[in-house]
Amino acid sequence: MRPAIQKQTLQVRQTAAPIRALDELDSYQVPGRHREEFLRMRQTLSTALSEGAARTLLFASSSSGEGTTTIASQFAIVLADSGDNVLLVDANLRHPALHSRFQLVKECGFSDLAVLACSAREAAKPTKLKGLSIITSGGSDSNPYCLFDSKRLKPVVDELRTMAGWVLFETSAVNDFNDALSLAGLVDGVILVIQAEKTRWEVVQCARDRLAGINAPITGTVLNRRKTYIPDWIYSRL
Ligand SMILES: Nc1ncnc2c1ncn2[C@@H]1O[C@H](COP(=O)(O)OP(=O)(O)OP(=O)(O)O)[C@@H](O)[C@H]1O
Ligand SMILES: [Mg+2]
Repeated sequence: MRPAIQKQTLQVRQTAAPIRALDELDSYQVPGRHREEFLRMRQTLSTALSEGAARTLLFASSSSGEGTTTIASQFAIVLADSGDNVLLVDANLRHPALHSRFQLVKECGFSDLAVLACSAREAAKPTKLKGLSIITSGGSDSNPYCLFDSKRLKPVVDELRTMAGWVLFETSAVNDFNDALSLAGLVDGVILVIQAEKTRWEVVQCARDRLAGINAPITGTVLNRRKTYIPDWIYSRL
């Protein structure tokens, strides 16, 4: 039997055809249909996660290329557009992407924080969107295996928690590296990004088992690039 893995699944569909690659869009643009899904996600998470303290979330996928950077970035933009104070953190040291996506310098970022080479206030770079700051991956060439040590990362996460209402981390794929697992135990919720019609459920299940093995709080899943085979206006009424 195919096990159910999600508490709350949000479906982010492929942008309408003919599509331009999302990379070609302005980094701060979120397609309209995605925006609706992200607003729903904000509502669900606001209820699910305790009020008052910052909400820390980890975005990860089971394998690479499923859309973690895209989903974390777009969610951060929608939150900031809604008036929230957001800190988006590039903790994917295997394939860092936020610096190029948002045209920011990579140095003085997450890896530097972990080795105490810069302060969290220095690392949080303002963006052209009010309310959104980004911590890029950093310039430290320390081995990620050493950096992703929970004891080393806990004070970093605790400090970042004090800096924004939402702190969103994105990491490398759960089945490829242990980095996500080190962070998963330190955040309030984990969002698993799954590419529709590509990732096999056994692969997702394997990632879920790894996260469950460390008691990570899997809060929800995002089904990314879901294609619809009927006109959108009918789909929206279902
Ligand atoms: N919903 C979507 N619609 C159209 N294109 C998408 C969508 N989500 C992601 N993409 C495209 O898929 C590619 C991979 O996405 P992205 O870089 O976000 O994946 P990733 O999981 O962060 O990859 P990595 O594991 O290498 O860090 C990018 O070219 C991105 O523009
Ligand atoms: Mg990425």
